[in-house]
Amino acid sequence: MASTLTPDEAAVQLAATSSQRWHPTFHVAPVAGWINDPNGLCFYQGRYHAFFQHYPYEAQWGPMHWGHASSADLVTWRHEPVALAPDAPYDADGVWSGSAIETPSGTLKVFYTGHRWRDGRGPEGGNVQVQCVAESTDGVHFEKAGIVIEGPEDLDDFRDPCVWRHDDRWYLTLGVGFHGRGQVWLYASDDLDHWSFEGVLFEDPSPDVYMLECPQLFQLREHWVLLYGPMTHARPHGYTGRNGHNGGYVVGTWAPGQAFVPLTDYRPADWGRHFYATQTMLDPAGRRLAFGWMGEFVQPLASASEGWAGQLAVPRALTLGDDLRLRWTPIPELESLRGQRRDHGAFEVGLNEDYVIDPDADALEIELKVDLTATTSEAVLLHVHQTAPGCATTIAYDDLAERVQLDLGAVSQGGRGYRSAPFVGDELRLRVLVDRGSVEVFVGDGAETLSTLSFPDDGPRAVVLSSAGGTIAVTGLVTHKLGTIGLS
Ligand code: FRU
Repeated sequence: MASTLTPDEAAVQLAATSSQRWHPTFHVAPVAGWINDPNGLCFYQGRYHAFFQHYPYEAQWGPMHWGHASSADLVTWRHEPVALAPDAPYDADGVWSGSAIETPSGTLKVFYTGHRWRDGRGPEGGNVQVQCVAESTDGVHFEKAGIVIEGPEDLDDFRDPCVWRHDDRWYLTLGVGFHGRGQVWLYASDDLDHWSFEGVLFEDPSPDVYMLECPQLFQLREHWVLLYGPMTHARPHGYTGRNGHNGGYVVGTWAPGQAFVPLTDYRPADWGRHFYATQTMLDPAGRRLAFGWMGEFVQPLASASEGWAGQLAVPRALTLGDDLRLRWTPIPELESLRGQRRDHGAFEVGLNEDYVIDPDADALEIELKVDLTATTSEAVLLHVHQTAPGCATTIAYDDLAERVQLDLGAVSQGGRGYRSAPFVGDELRLRVLVDRGSVEVFVGDGAETLSTLSFPDDGPRAVVLSSAGGTIAVTGLVTHKLGTIGLS
């Protein structure tokens, strides 16, 4: 570790070695180094704050810091100095994930997990995880105030405090691995300093799930949504749970003093390869906004060779349908990033034909509508990041399987494989956000989304719509070149 540099100096030095070919234009990402979970999302003193797990010294996970970006409008962002570093005895090996809340006296308090290796050396000896507080009067500079919750001595996984206010009390959820079972624990407080254990809010029904990371409970309409990341020993099976880290939610009922009663089964937050550790916040208008982390621990990311790894997905507004499924919609503010617009109108893609939507797109939004009742093609194949024929990331509606696939098998760099979300309907509507190093797909009304990092080879990046064994009835196709959020 280059310990003579401050965290911010280290990231700037690392950035000097990187090229911009995959560094995002409209996603929050570090100057350089590693990021994972969004942390401490809040609106404070007139600005939105997105903190995130950050290792500024290398493009790989290490002793975690809290990186920080802020925004007045959720569209353009600026980097802020690293907010928290692992420099106290109780967080010596990492300032791990947590949340933020404005106190009645107007300060900003962040709750985070102080992490250290039990044997002082590494993971083999286990972890000690305690919940800590730091406070700020400007949202940028923080003073640590020590430990507020210590767990039972023998627990290795006890982390990710999420604080919220309901009626006249504060509540806090924690992700816990309790003797082999994944649980969410609930605490309550009248003053944010003294916390009482209220009980186990939720236990994952699967005995294979040993830990629930980053739990968050919040209300939408008259229901309560519990988001979390189940960690499992089970072999991936079927379409869900295929990533190294998989996040999702259940919807249920809850009231203070009562049990959380799930009304639904678990459902993925996003069906793609890279969307994890979702954290939400209420904005001043009462919208529930969600940020997720696009990255992974399992395979080294191609961008790491250029000094950075990971980004946040675009902010999504969350609503709950009558079917008790979440709807994930890019916030409308992002439309202000739209530049040159091209309306391709309605047309047919002929038998086994390729229709070039854009010969070279760096940052592009695609809105596609297809009448499936008039489509005979076996698949609607939308290739993005195509640097040569057959070398692309492909979003495909597969009419045989009735699913939307996001296939990385042919992109030239980085991980291969595909992910797949269910879709049944007569009209296929896709909204796709293509950045330099990622793709986010919103299907229909946003009940299904698929997000992934995607690292194309050098050269022009075409966007092409292709048919397979039939024709495609396009009823609408509009593209927008997208501008920058000011961080690259
Ligand atoms: C989830 C997670 C959290 C933890 C943090 C450490 O990705 O493992 O549970 O607080 O990342 O970086």
